[in-house]
Amino acid sequence: MKKILVTGGLGYIGSHTVVALQEAGYEVFIIDNLSNTSIDVLQGITEITNTPPKFERLDLRIKNDVVAFFQKHTNMDGIIHFAASKAVGESVENPLLYYENNINSLVYLLQECKAHNISNFIFSSSCTVYGEPDTLPIDEGAPIKQATSPYGNTKQISEEILKDVCHVSNLNAIALRYFNPIGAHASALIGELPVGVPQNLVPFITQTAAGVRKELSVFGDDYDTPDGSCIRDYIHVVDLARAHVKAVERLIKAENSAKFRVFNIGTGKGNSVLEVIAAFEEVTGEKLNYKIVDRRPGDVVAVFADTKKANEELGWKAAHDLKEGLASSWKWEKKVRGI
Ligand code: UD1
Repeated sequence: MKKILVTGGLGYIGSHTVVALQEAGYEVFIIDNLSNTSIDVLQGITEITNTPPKFERLDLRIKNDVVAFFQKHTNMDGIIHFAASKAVGESVENPLLYYENNINSLVYLLQECKAHNISNFIFSSSCTVYGEPDTLPIDEGAPIKQATSPYGNTKQISEEILKDVCHVSNLNAIALRYFNPIGAHASALIGELPVGVPQNLVPFITQTAAGVRKELSVFGDDYDTPDGSCIRDYIHVVDLARAHVKAVERLIKAENSAKFRVFNIGTGKGNSVLEVIAAFEEVTGEKLNYKIVDRRPGDVVAVFADTKKANEELGWKAAHDLKEGLASSWKWEKKVRGI
């Protein structure tokens, strides 16, 4: 059985990926510092898969702990590195937190890869590296634009670090550039657990429908789009999780066509904020309280993925649509709130 280390494996995308890995027959070891999630997620994963993954609470910023971990736990066949901070606004307020957490952790992990001869590495990147696209859909060859937040910058820098390290070592890496993840596992045993007021659209929608928030603010209806609201590519987290399994398989079978590859992971379809609201109301039968407010600084107008490379090279394609994603997010929200 191949052993995969999943950092941040109790987080939103991490936990769904652990489920997918275990279902595909991998042995999973999770490390997580629990800074943005709950230990209860471990129970959810175990209930879904009937297999408790190994777990250790570890903060990747503490180099000595990282070194000690790899001395104790040898022979990992690969690493999927999710552990990182991800709030755009917070990164503007506290850039050093983001550079320390997102960059130092990556460097320490890669040092251990070198020390212990671990050659397969998957990194959580983001479509944020593209900034405002010049053409749509956007493919992996599109230029990387000047980052508009320290968060976005950490994703760009991390990709550069991986490219440089792959160039001079036996490391093979894949960076998956996620578009906008939504949804939850069909069992509603795991899902997204935003701490405090959600910054992302879908958790804000479900919390508003659940009565936790009074109303949703739609950030702008005067953009140059068909209905004036921003357009994104909303990808079901279960599909996203499967993409990681495909990427792991590819690395383990040494099928990566270059030492460092990037893939867009999206549906290929763009939906506006107003379309998301309408779809949510349609699939749930809930009427959503919302108002139009000013644009949010830093938002790009429209972005959605060209997924040809992921479809053809990775052999992966999104199987769920927006409505399925929203329905599963709502099922999860109701479970969390006891509705
Ligand atoms: C951005 C990044 C993404 C990153 C994520 C981290 C881009 C294109 N995307 O996602 O890579 O991982 O931040 O958080 O840079 N909206 C509202 N009201 C709300 C919340 C959001 O109208 O209360 C709108 C936004 O204006 C946007 C859409 O909903 O048009 C999606 O917003 P959000 O969920 O925050 O994700 P992004 O900003 O696209």
